[in-house]
Amino acid sequence: MAKKAINVGIIGFGTVGTGTARILIENADIIQRRLGAPVVLKKISDLDVKRDRGIALGNVQLTTSAQEILTDPDIDVVIELIGGYKPAKEFILEAFRNKKHVVTANKALLAVHGEELYAAAEKAGVTLGYEASVAGGIPILAAVRSGLAANNIESIYGIVNGTCNYILTLMTNAGRKFDEVLKEAQAMGYAEADPTFDIEGIDSAHKLAVLTMLAYGTPVKFDDIYTEGISKITPLDIDFAKDLGYKIKLLAITKKVNGEIEARVHPTMLPETYPIATVDGVFNALAVVGDAVGSTMFYGRGAGDMPTGSAVVSDVISIGRDILAGSVGRSPITAFRDRKVLKIRKMDDITSCYYLRFSALDKPGVLSRITGVLGKNNISISSMLQKGRKVDEAVPIVMMTHEAVERDVRKALEEINKLDCVSGATVVIRVEDGSK
Ligand code: HSE
Repeated sequence: MAKKAINVGIIGFGTVGTGTARILIENADIIQRRLGAPVVLKKISDLDVKRDRGIALGNVQLTTSAQEILTDPDIDVVIELIGGYKPAKEFILEAFRNKKHVVTANKALLAVHGEELYAAAEKAGVTLGYEASVAGGIPILAAVRSGLAANNIESIYGIVNGTCNYILTLMTNAGRKFDEVLKEAQAMGYAEADPTFDIEGIDSAHKLAVLTMLAYGTPVKFDDIYTEGISKITPLDIDFAKDLGYKIKLLAITKKVNGEIEARVHPTMLPETYPIATVDGVFNALAVVGDAVGSTMFYGRGAGDMPTGSAVVSDVISIGRDILAGSVGRSPITAFRDRKVLKIRKMDDITSCYYLRFSALDKPGVLSRITGVLGKNNISISSMLQKGRKVDEAVPIVMMTHEAVERDVRKALEEINKLDCVSGATVVIRVEDGSK
């Protein structure tokens, strides 16, 4: 007998679980019209089933036991929204064993254990949907998987952490302090349970691992992704960037260079006129370049109950369509039938332009000693800026370089940081401006 409804259960009734439930209930009509059958939210499990989430749950059963969902023979799709590694991974594997499809927003889990989960789902003949794991409500994975499937992806540049973008925006536009703004972002419900995941770039790297895997059809070892956060960005560097016509953004970058992949997360200086540099506040944005399509840009809310719920429910509808059409497995979970292992380049081997801020004494011969070391290491300077003048005290001196090899920059700075006229470690920010 043809299936009449798609039954779902949600594990985790937190921010995203609440948004997902709300969408499934309040948008039930439009979902049914798109799918041709109702999506029925049967059960929600959470340790806390008492708190009022402000939704009219109707016949939805609340339970404190995830097992009630994982073993319910009527449930077709399990939505995992508890986050973290344990017990999320065990729950998902159990759902697969019980022949249930799974939808998750769990980027940390996918970044580290994705390969095991993709293989387990395929083996069980079920699907794993993870649109919500990257950039919340922006349908970026669908775009890379389907809309841009004709292309060799050349690069993806993404602002994929709203917390960092909010902090950098307020530091830039309002001259606010890092710690103070972080507290606000946490209060707004954007930050991860452990906010170091946000500010140290780990959350962005989790998302980049998923994007890279999907864009290039390669397994990605999470530890191969270079990750640097925004906690060391100072108002001084933000001001220098402004003077030079740049903005500092935390970017997740993946690109293919000579058959290898660059996958890195770090603060990046971008010309302030670049579209992605104009993306402010908690918003996310991704610029994807394909060889056929050229440049594309995706913008929207990367976190929050309803935007992330929107992505979760889109996966439920997509899985529902395949169930109803008898075409489960039509689109491979990893977007490629034929995957190839591509090497992730070592950070030492990448090339970039650089912003270097030295703290150096303002006296004759200092500049030539610094530029001498840079020149010896094949680093060419494109512009220089010094602000203020102090006798017998270090002043900030900024140099912008032409394209250089990271290994050379590190070697040069090791030597420069030891010069007696230089105090403190030199600040390094990579620059993307296409001008070389
Ligand atoms: N902590 C993340 C952010 C939430 O700030 O964007 C969405 O993954």
